[in-house]
Amino acid sequence: MVRVLAFLVGLFFSGMLLLSFIWGGVAFVSEPPVPTAEKEFHKHPEKAGFSFEGPFGKYDRAQLQRGFQVYSEVCAACHSLHQVAFRSLADLGYNEAEIKAIAAARQVPAVDPNTGEATTREGAPADKFPLVYPNNVAAAAANNNAIPPDLSLIAKARHDGANYVYSLLSGYQDQPAELVRKFPDAKTGEGLHYNPYFANLNLAMAPPLVMDGQVTYGEGQPKPTIDQMAKDVSAFLMWTAEPKMEARKSTGIAVVIFLLFATVLAYMSYQNIWANKKH
Ligand code: HEC
Repeated sequence: MVRVLAFLVGLFFSGMLLLSFIWGGVAFVSEPPVPTAEKEFHKHPEKAGFSFEGPFGKYDRAQLQRGFQVYSEVCAACHSLHQVAFRSLADLGYNEAEIKAIAAARQVPAVDPNTGEATTREGAPADKFPLVYPNNVAAAAANNNAIPPDLSLIAKARHDGANYVYSLLSGYQDQPAELVRKFPDAKTGEGLHYNPYFANLNLAMAPPLVMDGQVTYGEGQPKPTIDQMAKDVSAFLMWTAEPKMEARKSTGIAVVIFLLFATVLAYMSYQNIWANKKH
């Protein structure tokens, strides 16, 4: 009896599975997926060739410092870095005095000790990077109704983050004529900019890096071409999103070596224990 019941239940589930498979197939044929501009023209991020890729990858400190410079001189006008404390910049190779100066050059929110009113003061190393806009309404009002996201974690919030930011910054182009011909409704709107790396192909951010030499790098550094600046700031944003990446990778390697060693030990003790127990 139980067997028959189990068989019937199994039959019911397999039947439903088969039916839904057939329904899916019929729907696919009778109503094929509509082609969209996003499906045809969206591109995956290009590989920038970062030093921190792979299991042995390390950050290039000079590159991170250049990226911080690009962030400060270009992106900081619109994007905050609210999860990052000034003192963390020590990781990039800045000394205490330099960090104090970087912090002091920015105003952070404070409370007036006499009146209790909200005011601002010079930043200190323990402070975090201040917000750019007091709230999202102000941010949207200043940016054609789009809110520039906080960049602290953006490299982790997007698939293939560092390569994505790099591709986005260096990937602005005119909208392909073919796209407009095929999808007249997908024409880039007023105040938007075509970028094949952005999910819906049109974003509200005007190209922030527009010419070579927009930022002046110090002695002995590569030339600040658009490509180089895009790469540097993307590396910097990878660091803000995952400052402990190097420690994570070296711990991982140590763990794998330990596990290999433990496996060999386990195998050897197995051989030893069973050595004279067979047959
Ligand atoms: C003039 C203001 C402005 C500047 C300067 C600016 N951005 Fe933006 N950024 C925006 C706005 C607005 C958006 C939101 C766009 C949207 O949602 O359509 C945005 C979005 C982004 C995004 C998110 C894209 C996504 O996938 O959601 C990234 C990453 C980004 N900016 C990086 C940068 C970097 C790096 C710089 C400096 C090189 C920079 N931005 C400079 C205004 C700016």
